[in-house]
Amino acid sequence: MEKQPVRLPESWGRTAFRRFLENEQLPIITGFAVDDLKTVEVVPWPRMDAKGVYVQLTGAEDTDSAYVVEIAPGKSTAEERHLYEEVYFVLSGRGSCEVSGHNEDRRSFEWQTGSVFAIPLNTFHRLHNGSGREPARLLAVTTAPLMINLVRNLDFIFNCPFDFTDRFDGQDDYFNREGTIYARPDSQQKIWETNFVADVYKMQLPAWAERGAGGKHMKFELADNVLVAHVSEFPVGTYKKGHRHGPGAHVIILEGNGYSLMWTDQHKTFEDIQWKPGTMLVPPGMWWHQHFNSGPTPARYLAIRWGSTKWKVTRYLDHQGIDKSAKAGGHQIEYADQDPRIHRMFDERCKANGVEVKMDEFFARAR
Ligand SMILES: [Fe+2]
Repeated sequence: MEKQPVRLPESWGRTAFRRFLENEQLPIITGFAVDDLKTVEVVPWPRMDAKGVYVQLTGAEDTDSAYVVEIAPGKSTAEERHLYEEVYFVLSGRGSCEVSGHNEDRRSFEWQTGSVFAIPLNTFHRLHNGSGREPARLLAVTTAPLMINLVRNLDFIFNCPFDFTDRFDGQDDYFNREGTIYARPDSQQKIWETNFVADVYKMQLPAWAERGAGGKHMKFELADNVLVAHVSEFPVGTYKKGHRHGPGAHVIILEGNGYSLMWTDQHKTFEDIQWKPGTMLVPPGMWWHQHFNSGPTPARYLAIRWGSTKWKVTRYLDHQGIDKSAKAGGHQIEYADQDPRIHRMFDERCKANGVEVKMDEFFARAR
C-alpha cells in the first residue's frame, strides 16, 4: 500500500538560532544599520542579569550575531560559558572581566571605553561594572548563529564541560601580554596577535596604502578565534576604495561623520548609510561597499568580523582579495574604475559640509 504524505508541520523551516533569539525575549534590531549603539534602548535581560538588545542586521546573514549589554552601576553580569566565540567592544564605562577555565584559576583584567577583547572559547566569564555611578555598555559580536544552527541543543552550547586548553590554559599573562605584530609579505597590512586592546580610539595605526586614500589600519587576531577585528582610519576629504567580501563584518564608527554606500552589480542603486560615532553597519555578503569621510575630522572605525588571517574558514567568509583589483581577480574597485556617480556624490556632500576634497593625490598615485 502506498504511504500517504502528511502536511508539513508549521514548526519546520525556522532556524534554531531564531528560536533561541525568541526565547531570549529581547527586542531585535534589524535592517542595514543601527544609528547609534550608545543610545539604543536596552531592556531587562534575565539570563544575563543585565539589560540588552539583540542586533541582527541583514548583512550578518545569520553567520554571526551582535548584542548590546548594559550593566547597572556596581553590578555584574551572570556568569556564563558557551561554545561560540565572543568579541567585546566597550561602548561606554569601565570595569573588569573575570575568566576561568578548567583549573578554576580566575584571570581578571580591566576594561574601559574603547577596549576590545575576546572571551576564550567556552571559558566561564562575567563582566563587572567598575563604576558605582554610571552604567557600562558593551557591544558583543558572536559566532552563535552558526554554532547553534549546527548543534541546536542549547544545553550542549551553554553547559558543555569541555575545556579548550589549546586556546586558554589559565596563563597568567593571557590578557596583558604584548603579543606579536605580523607584517604580511604581499601588502602593508599589519596584524597584531593579542587578547586585549586597551583603546581603539587612541591607539596609533600604521599605514595600509593598498586600501586607498592615506588610510591607516591594524588588524587584531584575538584569543585564537576565527572572529577577528580591525581598526581603520582615513583622512578628512577622502574615501576608501570600494570592495566586497562575505557577510557579517560589523563596522562600528568610532570617530567622524560621513556615509557608506552598498550595492550589487545587478541593482545599480546605492544603499546610502549616513554615519556618526556610534553607528554600526554590516554590508551583506559580496555586496560592494565603500566608506566616505565627508565630515571635518578624520574618520575611524572598528570592524568585528570573519576573516582571520591565521585560521581560515570558508572562501565565502574569509576576506580574500579585498585589497586587490577586481580586474586582477581580487575584490576591490580601484579609483580609476569606479562609477563616476560615486565621486560626484562625494564632491557635493563635502561642499555642503564646507570640507575640501583631497582625493587628487590618491587618484594621481593610482594612475
Ligand atoms: Fe569591507
